[in-house]
Order: sequence, then structure tokens, then C-alpha cells
Amino acid sequence: MSDYLIAPSILSADFARLGADVDAVLAAGADVIHFDVMDNHYVPNLTMGAMFCKALRDYGIRAPIDVHLMVKPVDRLIGDFIDAGADIITFHPEASEHIDRSLQLIRDGGCKAGLVFNPATPLHYLDHVMDRIDQILIMSVNPGFGGQSFIPEALDKLRAARQRIAASGRTDIRLEVDGGVKVDNIRAIAEAGADMFVAGSAIFGAADYAERISAMRAELAA
Ligand code: DX5
Ligand code: ZN
Repeated sequence: MSDYLIAPSILSADFARLGADVDAVLAAGADVIHFDVMDNHYVPNLTMGAMFCKALRDYGIRAPIDVHLMVKPVDRLIGDFIDAGADIITFHPEASEHIDRSLQLIRDGGCKAGLVFNPATPLHYLDHVMDRIDQILIMSVNPGFGGQSFIPEALDKLRAARQRIAASGRTDIRLEVDGGVKVDNIRAIAEAGADMFVAGSAIFGAADYAERISAMRAELAA
């Protein structure tokens, strides 16, 4: 694994042949599988539950699975995803009645835990939890759909989150970005502080996944 992690969002994968498509994107050089869970309540779309995560494990997928919960309430699904083989579970603080409890549930299950920030959600939710998180996810679109355009204000938010990580001394915390990440903006996003890049349509929309992931890595190395 490089220091920069590429995490294809399987929201844009071929759901009718999900296992094979996930295999293909891993063979093409992806580091992590980003797994978007939407409930038609917290966000206006409906995707997949924990049984899809378990199905991928049963199919033989061994890569880390990064579960992005866009659901309300949060806690009941955490145990399901732990049991289904998730490695990382992130959730939106507005969707949890008790943020510390939700983080603890994730960590007690042996998974890495993180908070997700919508474009208008302030970073102050981090104030009292920096010692209990492994990841911060900055949304660069409003959650609910793939294929939206990157919101440029997310760059300032990434810089602010990177400063918080540095100030906390927890430099092992991953700074993930999600939404509208493409070959032509990934370098600027990295310069703003991100080190984990979710990309759905940019990767699964490519005719050649390996070529697209290599182009992203080339931008990151430039
Ligand atoms: C949006 C999801 C994203 C989405 C990104 O709510 O959280 O993970 O799949 O898709 P792209 O990369 O197409 O913007
Ligand atoms: Zn996501």
C-alpha cells in the first residue's frame, strides 16, 4: 500500500456482477473498497446493507472494506457491519444521538472508526473525539448520489482538518475525501491534505480501471 490510498466507491460498480467488478478494481490497483450505505431517510437514496458486505467476503474479497454509513439511526447497523467483515466504519455525527457511543461500538468491534462531514457540517464535532477516531471523511458533495461535481470549498475544509490532525499529534489519522474526485483535481485535493481518495464514477466509468487508477497515482506522484 502506498501512503496515498485509492478507494473506489462501489456505488458506481455493476451491482448485477458486484463480486467480479470489485475483484477487477482491486486487480487494477485499488487499495480499499468504499462501501456506501444509504437508507432513503438520512439521504434520499437506497443502496445496500450488511448482507452485501458479507457476500463480498464470502466471494473471497480480502481488501479492506471502508463502510460509509449514510443512515439514521446509526447504532443498530454498526454491529451488522462488524459481523459482516467491515474494517473501517464511518458515520455522520448529525445522524447519531450519541457520537461517543457510536464510535465506541465501532472500536469495540475491532474496526477503525471515523466521522463524516457534509459540506455544511462544522468540524467542531471533532473537538472531543480526536483520541477516539482513526479517520476523518470530508464530503466534497452532498451525500446521496455518485457522479456529482466536486464542491471547491471542500479544499479549505481539508486544510482545516489537516491542521486539526497535526495539532492533535494523531498523525496516523487518515484524511479521506469523497465526491467528485477525478484525475484532474486529485492533486489539488492531496495538496489540501487528503491522503485517502474515494472515487466512484471516475473509476467505474472508465473503460480501463487500471489505466484510470494509474493516472490518479501519477497525479499524486507529480
Ligand atoms: C456519495 C457517496 C460517494 C459517491 C462518490 O454520497 O458517499 O462515495 O459514490 O461518487 P463520485 O466519485 O462519482 O462522486
Ligand atoms: Zn461515500
